[in-house]
Amino acid sequence: MARTRVIVDTDPGVDDAVAILLALASEELEVVAITSVAGNVGIDATTLNARRLVELAQRPDVPVARGSARPLNGDPQLEVSVHGADGLGDLVWDEPQVPEHELDAVDLQYRLITEAPTTIVAIGPLTNLANLLSRYPQAESLVERVVIMGGASFEGNVTPAAEFNIWFDPEAAAAVAAARWPMTFMPLDLTHQALLNDEDLAHLRGLDTAVGHRVAAMLEPYALFHDEWYGNRDVIMHDATAVYELIDPTAIEKQGVAVTVETGGEHSRGATWFDRRRANSNSTTTVGVTLDNDRFASVIRERLARFA
Ligand code: BDR
Ligand code: CA
Repeated sequence: MARTRVIVDTDPGVDDAVAILLALASEELEVVAITSVAGNVGIDATTLNARRLVELAQRPDVPVARGSARPLNGDPQLEVSVHGADGLGDLVWDEPQVPEHELDAVDLQYRLITEAPTTIVAIGPLTNLANLLSRYPQAESLVERVVIMGGASFEGNVTPAAEFNIWFDPEAAAAVAAARWPMTFMPLDLTHQALLNDEDLAHLRGLDTAVGHRVAAMLEPYALFHDEWYGNRDVIMHDATAVYELIDPTAIEKQGVAVTVETGGEHSRGATWFDRRRANSNSTTTVGVTLDNDRFASVIRERLARFA
């Protein structure tokens, strides 16, 4: 089987953690790096969390490189309440032994995309990808594909207009959306169909492995947050949908679009416009529309059970 070579660009983040573990467990993918970006928590914490996760997965061979500490214009505004103060639900971890890579995220991404066809899975704010495009303009034609968790058509989750990853750095998102690389977005309209419920959490806990225990423990405060915010404990696995799409490209129905990002506006900064009109039906930019939650949850259960 031809494996898809992927870089995971991420701001872990509880749902990022599930996405990273899903990628590392999946034989369809070859994870060649994890690159951190500020988002859910600051860059020190997201980089530390990425190192914790490769160590939890017993994959110290996967390099972790530090990315951008702040959005292109301005200072980071952090979402500490959603993922805990440390980004991973405030559990106790041993200090990871896996070092940070000597290159920064963008230089490592560029090195890897020049070596072989590579897909970037971007599940945090898009600052690193915007910096990749400005530092290495040839990246636009070198990258095989970009799969992004970000955006919303119906409703945002930070403001009525904006989803978190886009809202955090709209200028970066606008630059990435304007690039001509093949690209797929997983917006909130899709990710809200990808849920794990209390039975799934009990299943993960019952695996009786380090990964099972940690993931179930991380997801517990995330479920409380969902209960308060959405009125039930089902946790939304935003970021895992982007990895899921790469594992099984038929699992998510997609639609050709043109994407623009609002960088101005009094109420709409960070909004994404997915132009779904027929003229865009054959576009190389697509947006995820539907997935089957039972199938998704069973893949998460089965893949996370692969860790010893
Ligand atoms: C996105 O924001 C973060 O809180 C999640 O990790 C995900 O990437 C969802 O809006
Ligand atoms: Ca994320």
